[in-house]
This record gives sequence, structure tokens and C-alpha cells, in this order.
Amino acid sequence: MSFETAELAELKNRGLLRILKLQDGNLLNFSTNDYLNLSCHPQVKDKAIKAIDNNGTGAGGSRLMAGNLSLHEELEKKLAELTCMESALIFGSGFLTNLGVLTALAGRNDVIFSDKLNHASLVDGAITSRAEVRRYRHCDVEHLADLIKSCDSTGRKIIVTDSVFSMNGDIAPLLDIHNLAVAQGCLLVVDEAHAIGVFGSGGGICKSLSITPDVITGTLSKALGSYGGFAACSERLRSFFINKSRSFIYTTGLPPASIGAALAALEVINSSPSIGEILIKNATFFKDGLNKIGFDTCGSASQIIPAVIGDNSKTLSISKHLEESRILAVAIRPPTVPHGSARLRFSLTLNHSQEDIKKVISVMEELKWK
Ligand SMILES: Cc1ncc(COP(=O)(O)O)c(C=O)c1O
Repeated sequence: MSFETAELAELKNRGLLRILKLQDGNLLNFSTNDYLNLSCHPQVKDKAIKAIDNNGTGAGGSRLMAGNLSLHEELEKKLAELTCMESALIFGSGFLTNLGVLTALAGRNDVIFSDKLNHASLVDGAITSRAEVRRYRHCDVEHLADLIKSCDSTGRKIIVTDSVFSMNGDIAPLLDIHNLAVAQGCLLVVDEAHAIGVFGSGGGICKSLSITPDVITGTLSKALGSYGGFAACSERLRSFFINKSRSFIYTTGLPPASIGAALAALEVINSSPSIGEILIKNATFFKDGLNKIGFDTCGSASQIIPAVIGDNSKTLSISKHLEESRILAVAIRPPTVPHGSARLRFSLTLNHSQEDIKKVISVMEELKWK
């Protein structure tokens, strides 16, 4: 048997095989990251089309070669304003942003302190940087402080955390982490991928708390309904990333359509800054409903609401049953989440009505006993 057949069979046995499924537009989608449904907003589509009309379909090169468009720089200014940071730099995706930021900031003599539930792109960025990585217990600031105090490295110390955690939907204690970073002379990188567009009038949780980490990373691909990523930071760090981030230097600039779409998404958000609050109100109603019927929702305080099932196969089977009721809620299994905590990850969008939410809760209640 070939190695790949053997390894795939092993994954299947453990209920961990992943397969690609075509999206069925008829399902009530509780798995999308298009939280504000902006990917189908007429103004967003229109601006993407205009960007193609004016600039073509591709940037034609890396930003440092011939691919730096005025659209890129316009969006960077708008993202800096949105997050209340001095400047911003666009990357090919949120994943590439985290990779580029961490590999530029950290090297062999440095130490990265990383929340145990940080997104894979932060984990991979930290590993790729060759820095020593010390993981602290999820959202545990005391543990983080102990790790920093017991670290005698003379290199740079960098704390890295998601603001909204992608599989729990809970929120990092950013005020305490920021205070600790300042007191201990650490750099702080906060990934706001799931908070941009939703919290802080769209600018994220750091903005809502009035804190300024060294770098905020984000994506254009979730609430902004487009594609791409960005780092918001000081002018100095922006220049540093332009010179040091290999995932920025050695890749083509984002295509005009993605930039046009993101610019229009920001216009929509700026013209109705409370849409994020409406989303979170609906999400709280949904989360309370799941809690009432006995599901652990992992401390979610955002539009991402997990319902922990535990067993991999049972989670898959509940996801399948939901689909029979025309509800899409993807099963999330290890290694994306810790062993024994397989779950359905629901994400709320502005399009979901109270009726939709009540329907999911009632189906979940039925399935719980199956
Ligand atoms: C917390 C977090 N950071 C970064 C990313 C990567 O963003 P992108 O999909 O733009 O690569 C994701 C999404 O998958 C995420 O959940």
C-alpha cells in the first residue's frame, strides 16, 4: 500500500479524514466567515468590477517590482485609519501576513510567547521564524507573565495572540496582555482576523479598548468579503516589513478586484458602524439558546459560536443531520481543535434572522439525544 493510501486510511479510521465538498447555495449557511454578507453587496461587487475595468485583472508583479498600484496604497491608508494605527501594509492573505510579520520580527535569538489556541498561521509563522516558542495556557495572563519572567533570553520577546479565537469565538484579555507587554518590554502582535469589521465600529477589539499593540494583523477575507491580508503598525515597522517579510517581497501584489472590493466594504462599514453590534446581539441570542439546551460554547463572546460534541464521528454525524434540515454547520475536528473537543462551529451573519436561529437551536435540541 502506498504511504498516502495508508495515511488516508488511518485518518478515516479515526474520523479525521477531510474532503472537499461543493458549496450548496440552498443551505442556510452557518459556516461562512462572510459575517456582514459583504461579498454579495452590490456596492462591493460594483467597485470590484470598476477596479478591473481601470486596472485589469492582475497586479502584474510583486509590489517591489512593477505591481504597486495606487489602489494598494489607498487601501493601506484606509486600513490604518480603520484600526487607528499609523500605517498598514497589505499581504497576499491573512495567513501570509502572519507568516511575514513573525518571520520578520523574530529570529534565532528571540522568544515568541504564543497562546495555545492561536491560529495555525501564527503557529507556523512562529515555527518558521526559528525563534524559541513558548506556549502559554489559553488566555492565561498569569501563566504568560510567569513564562516571560522566567525567560533569560537577551533577544526580542514577542507576545502573539488572536483577539477573537477562530474556533472558540472567545476573546483574549487584551488589556492585561497589553499592560504586561509594556511592563516587560515585549513586542505585542494581535491577530484581529475575526474582529475587523465586527468590533470597535469595524476597527477591531484593540481599537475598542483604545490600546495600540506593535502590530495588528487582519484579513480582507472574512467580514470585508474580499481576499487578502494586512498588518497595521507604525511607519517604521511598515518599512521594516517591506524589507524583511519574505511573504510580502517574493509574491505578486493583490489583484485590483480584491482591493476594490475591500475599499467598498470599508465604505459600507464606515457608513453604518453599528452593523457589528447588531451581529453580536444576534450571536448572543444564539449562544444563550445553545447554552440553555446544554451545549458548551467555549466562552464565546463573538459571532463565532462553537457547540462542543467531543467525539469526532458523532460530530460528523450531527453535521450531516443538520444538512438534512438544510443547515450548513461544518464539523471541526483535531488537529484544528484539541483532541476530544470536536465541535460544530457556527458563525452568525447579518443575513440570519431570529427564525433561522430558532430553527437551528430546535434541530440541535433534537439531535442532542440521537
Ligand atoms: C485568526 C486567523 N488568522 C488568520 C487567518 C488567515 O486568514 P486568510 O484566510 O486571509 O488567510 C484566519 C483564517 O483562516 C484566522 O482565523
